[in-house]
Amino acid sequence: MSKSSNGTALVTGASGGIGAIYAERLAQRGLDLTLVARSKDRLQENADRIRRQTGRTVHILVADLTRSEDIAAVAERLEKDVSVTLLVNNAGMMLPGAFLDNDAKGTTDLITLNVTAPTLLASAAAKAFLARKRGTIINIGSVVSFLPEMFGGSYGGSKAYILNLSQSLSAQLKDSGVHVQAVLPGPTRTGIWSHNGMDPDAVLPGKIMAAEDLVDAALVGLDAGETVTIPSLPDEALWAQFESSRFAMAPHLAQRDVAARYRVQNG
Ligand SMILES: NC(=O)c1ccc[n+]([C@@H]2O[C@H](COP(=O)([O-])OP(=O)(O)OC[C@H]3O[C@@H](n4cnc5c(N)ncnc54)[C@H](OP(=O)(O)O)[C@@H]3O)[C@@H](O)[C@H]2O)c1
Repeated sequence: MSKSSNGTALVTGASGGIGAIYAERLAQRGLDLTLVARSKDRLQENADRIRRQTGRTVHILVADLTRSEDIAAVAERLEKDVSVTLLVNNAGMMLPGAFLDNDAKGTTDLITLNVTAPTLLASAAAKAFLARKRGTIINIGSVVSFLPEMFGGSYGGSKAYILNLSQSLSAQLKDSGVHVQAVLPGPTRTGIWSHNGMDPDAVLPGKIMAAEDLVDAALVGLDAGETVTIPSLPDEALWAQFESSRFAMAPHLAQRDVAARYRVQNG
């Protein structure tokens, strides 16, 4: 097996679920790895297995990405480790119950992990990659960004933010050598469901994708140069229609005068 490296991928949430599969697949593609999560033991187990299977160099970085000092430590790694060519912003959480059941601490943790951390890590990576004129940022969103009525407000909102951030970054980094991809999984078989007291097969029988299939499809989308990849959407024309509705609104959104329907009637 060749030891020449295609650079290092830093993967957050790599102790299990989708992040652990990304780590495996990226190592199989010849990348070295830095695996980030809270559980040192599970990171170590994954790192040992991947080293054994692929011969790649795998480091672990234990971090709780709801803590600002840990986010800063991971950002510093992205800035200073010149071998890093790929960031997978994957770590994320849901909360059990409905929006009104969640307390301030849970909601703050969710927003910090799902929004603040990926934003600051994407910023650190974008600056470092731009200076080196190459790099890839993969942000894991969710199809719930299209379904705000169906999911707990803060989770769906956090994932809508990830899509918006990714599209904005992608536009800003166009032709810079830095590629940004948002991956929007549908329901996928990982521990996130049981951590939140849910059985995915009871919630959506017959509709749960394997994490391996999700990641393999997302990498096909990456290889095709996509900015937004929705592995579960069979008809890509639906996404194209969605985007063209958005672009159709764009030229009408900046106006000196309020729309006629909002005009204050005097007298
Ligand atoms: N599974 C789905 O149906 C689905 C669908 C759409 C989108 N997604 C998104 O996919 C991403 C991965 O989710 P998953 O399904 O693979 O979930 P998962 O199985 O629960 O894995 C989550 C990963 O994030 C890490 N993590 C959680 N809290 C963290 C924290 N405070 N600091 C650092 N790392 C933390 C976990 O490791 P530790 O516990 O060791 O920290 C774990 O490695 C998330 O962004 C999720 O929103 C999932």
